[in-house]
Amino acid sequence: MGLILAYFRKPRLDLARIRIVWCDHICEEDEYFQKVIHRLCKRNEAIRAAMLSSNAQHAESEAEEDFVLSSLADRISTFFHNLIEDDIIANEEELKRCCYDIGRQHAAYGKKRFKISFWEEFTLTMMNVLEEIYPTTTKEEQKAWHVFLRYVNENMLDGYHDALTYNDKPT
Ligand code: HEM
Repeated sequence: MGLILAYFRKPRLDLARIRIVWCDHICEEDEYFQKVIHRLCKRNEAIRAAMLSSNAQHAESEAEEDFVLSSLADRISTFFHNLIEDDIIANEEELKRCCYDIGRQHAAYGKKRFKISFWEEFTLTMMNVLEEIYPTTTKEEQKAWHVFLRYVNENMLDGYHDALTYNDKPT
């Protein structure tokens, strides 16, 4: 019974509004993830260090670090682009698998575990930047994007933690 109730309470992905947020706003200007990464790194030095951890050899000066972070932002943007424009979001099994797999991949980045709060901060920053730079998005569109981000985050975390159980890292 509890499982059935949880199923009905869980907000469903609003595909139409997710596509509007992506195609009519984020994709148009192509600055969203650059701003997200820039803001995350400015606010939280530990996140910045974690993001640079798998590229330490290419990030010896501030300009090189900025370059590494900017190309990370581009790769994250491509990930979302593929989920939405290749219509992976329309197939929940496939969507889950893509997020789970990219989460698993994160277990290979850096020497230390990423704190759970890093993932939450990532989601919050993606929401903050959306509200700030795309003020014409409606409340319903923002809500749809938020549910989507939480979904991506949750499934990435599942993959990340499953992979860590094989690969014991310090906290
Ligand atoms: C919902 C949250 C997140 C999303 C959607 C996300 C997405 C991605 C994507 C798509 C990639 C590129 C993978 C590739 O090209 O092979 C990536 C790489 C990476 N992410 Fe995340 N990520 C998230 C959270 C985090 C967190 C919390 C951290 C640590 C603070 C982190 C650190 C990294 C690092 C270090 C790389 C590899 C950079 C490199 O090798 O150049 N990510 N992430």
